[in-house]
Amino acid sequence: MEPEKSKPKIVVLASCCVDFITYAPRLPLPGETLQGDKFTTGFGGKGANQCVAAAKLGGDCHIICRIGDDDWGIKYKENLISFGIDITHAKITKGVSTGIAQISVAANGENHIVIVPGANKYLSTCDVEEAKVLVENADILISQLETPLETTYEAFKLCRGIKLLNAAPANINIVEILKYCTLLCVNEVEASMLVEFEVTISNIKHALQKLLLSGCKVAVITLGEKGAAYSSEEGESIFVPCKKVTPKDTTGAGDAFVGALAKFMVSHRDYPLHQIIGAACDVATKSVTKEGTQISFPEKYDAFNEVYKYTIL
Ligand code: RIB
Repeated sequence: MEPEKSKPKIVVLASCCVDFITYAPRLPLPGETLQGDKFTTGFGGKGANQCVAAAKLGGDCHIICRIGDDDWGIKYKENLISFGIDITHAKITKGVSTGIAQISVAANGENHIVIVPGANKYLSTCDVEEAKVLVENADILISQLETPLETTYEAFKLCRGIKLLNAAPANINIVEILKYCTLLCVNEVEASMLVEFEVTISNIKHALQKLLLSGCKVAVITLGEKGAAYSSEEGESIFVPCKKVTPKDTTGAGDAFVGALAKFMVSHRDYPLHQIIGAACDVATKSVTKEGTQISFPEKYDAFNEVYKYTIL
């Protein structure tokens, strides 16, 4: 009998936040008090969301993160364990609270988010050093920008696998990191800040090519309900549309996309990137039809049952 092949390792250098979510008919204007319909809490944070999205799709996921020494921190660890995520490098930070996110969701699914990083600010280069063997041997390492930049920089330098940076929330001080980045993934707003012009579907090829000059091998720009586009070093630029759905809650859709993209890049290595991006769009689209972040991500779902449409730009 052949020995069972081990699954590719997905390592996420992650932010963890507790989401305090209010649902209201629309988003409030500055200075306005609005009556909402519902309040709920959930587990969020872009990094942890991405890790959970990949784990729910069957990925072998490992998280490197910092949570506070409050009740939320304990509950957060239990939440990660419930998805089968390895929490060896999930550390409690003494005297600090777990990160929180204040989220408002409108009836049309749009959201506003304010985060207070709390323990996420303490994710350090020492944490990366302690997880060195894991980071070096990751098949894919994912990071975002809700934790200190120097920590991501250190981890990307060490990792011998694919390095996926989701440059969210927007930050223009990432030039040094991009040199070590295999795949950069941003939304239209983040892309616009990086390329210094307003990115739209009509100029997206130009924006992608400008992002590639930063040193990454593949650049992906997500366009919300419209889909996503990418350019690679090899010269191809492709747009992949999303299926149309009626959104309930778009919170975390970008994270569902990133987590799925990472999972499929290592589990379906022989597939063309447009098919992998189509499948990741499909996962994100499914997530917006349900309320919440991590709880809205699809589980045990074979996104490769179909062939996704695409257009060469
Ligand atoms: O991308 C959505 C996430 O952003 C939320 O879960 C919130 O915690 C913030 O980090």
